[in-house]
Amino acid sequence: MSTFKPNEILKNTHLQTRLVHTQAIGPEGFKSLSTPVYRGSSLFFENTAAQRAAINPLGLDYSYGVHGNPTQFTLAKKLAMLEGCQHGLIVPSGLSAIATTVLGLLKTGDHWLLPDNVYGPAQLLAKDLACSAGISFSTYNPMDLQTLANQLTPETRLVWVEAPGSLTFETPDLAELKKIVKQDFFDLVAQRKHSGNLSSDKKSADNPLSQAAVRTPLLAIDNTYAAGIAFKPFEFGFDVSVQALTKYQCGHADVLMGAVLADNTEVFAAIERKNRVLGLCVSPEDCALVLRGLLTLPLRYHHQAENALQIAKWLQAQPEVLCVLHPLMPDAPGHQAFVNHFSAAASVFSVVFKPEFTDNHAAAFVDELKLFHIAYSWGGPESLATVVQLPPARFNGLRQQYRRNAGPTVRLCIGLEAPEDLITDLQESLGKMHRQCT
Ligand SMILES: Cc1ncc(COP(=O)(O)O)c(C=O)c1O
Repeated sequence: MSTFKPNEILKNTHLQTRLVHTQAIGPEGFKSLSTPVYRGSSLFFENTAAQRAAINPLGLDYSYGVHGNPTQFTLAKKLAMLEGCQHGLIVPSGLSAIATTVLGLLKTGDHWLLPDNVYGPAQLLAKDLACSAGISFSTYNPMDLQTLANQLTPETRLVWVEAPGSLTFETPDLAELKKIVKQDFFDLVAQRKHSGNLSSDKKSADNPLSQAAVRTPLLAIDNTYAAGIAFKPFEFGFDVSVQALTKYQCGHADVLMGAVLADNTEVFAAIERKNRVLGLCVSPEDCALVLRGLLTLPLRYHHQAENALQIAKWLQAQPEVLCVLHPLMPDAPGHQAFVNHFSAAASVFSVVFKPEFTDNHAAAFVDELKLFHIAYSWGGPESLATVVQLPPARFNGLRQQYRRNAGPTVRLCIGLEAPEDLITDLQESLGKMHRQCT
């Protein structure tokens, strides 16, 4: 029996029954241009056969609200279109997009290789999974891809890329990276085995090292920086792309959300399955806000980026500044790789002060700013500033004269304010910091 009652069935029922079962007014004739917000946990079926037929893990699964709703599926479809792939999955945050991907693709005994400049909580996830799930991990230096080649093992199932990297914004040579992972993998692992660099007590040491026994690792990118605008991961050859929609896609600093995108159906199905068993879901209202954000995404992305570059160039010329870590600045680590692979920059970058300034000076500089808020995240209308603490190894990609002299670092995310006003604010704060130091 359907849970939906036509009016004649309700005619002789009590008020409270009618209050519960009154038919909603349908959307026919209401021609809104915006995507409606579809709410609902219990989704009813006309009969049991329809209920049994409804579950469709890879498509529009209208069986239970936790599996999605039309607002969410519209968003997933738009993002897949933006990235140039078949499948999209919407999850509650950028971090959960990373976690669902890794949990979906890896199992006990597998090895995950990730860059040492990766978004911090992804490293914490790797450590946690090593202890709790027996998924081993190691890190490579994205500016020295030999360190990646040296760590491939027959168990390496996933190679992670974040480009440009969080906080230091270096870009690896992605063409070389893809060649190592997708083309040279078998030779590299065979060489390492031959030279005794792979321990022979590993489970797979018994496997003949053939393409039948070991598959090339999957290649995934955290594409949050490019936001589906500045880099096309599937054209390039990535298997999976994750995005923190919290940033530019939402664009107004009021939604937390993430997405996993994949072109290969088998790869996507593995991630989708994991998402189901974890029970992750998002609200349709939040999806509608991100759908609204997508309408102006390219405009905001490019406009904020233009203002950010103007500010980055101004900062580079200031006496307090050692260097600006912005991938379009010629001295930025991996600048040429960025220009080769990316069609635009985002509006987030870091400023490295000269060595005479201390962490306290950098904190005072940030505290003095009037138009920048001290906050995490980026991609919203308000400009943000935060002092970041980096291990010295993170400056390895910098030119020699910078590497030796790096002082404290501040990350700036440029919003929608007039760049002239932001420069005045930065100038006044730099002046105060300078006076404190002299
Ligand atoms: C590169 C990158 N990936 C993922 C995330 C995580 O996104 P969320 O804050 O939505 O969990 C962030 C957040 O700052 C990020 O910078």
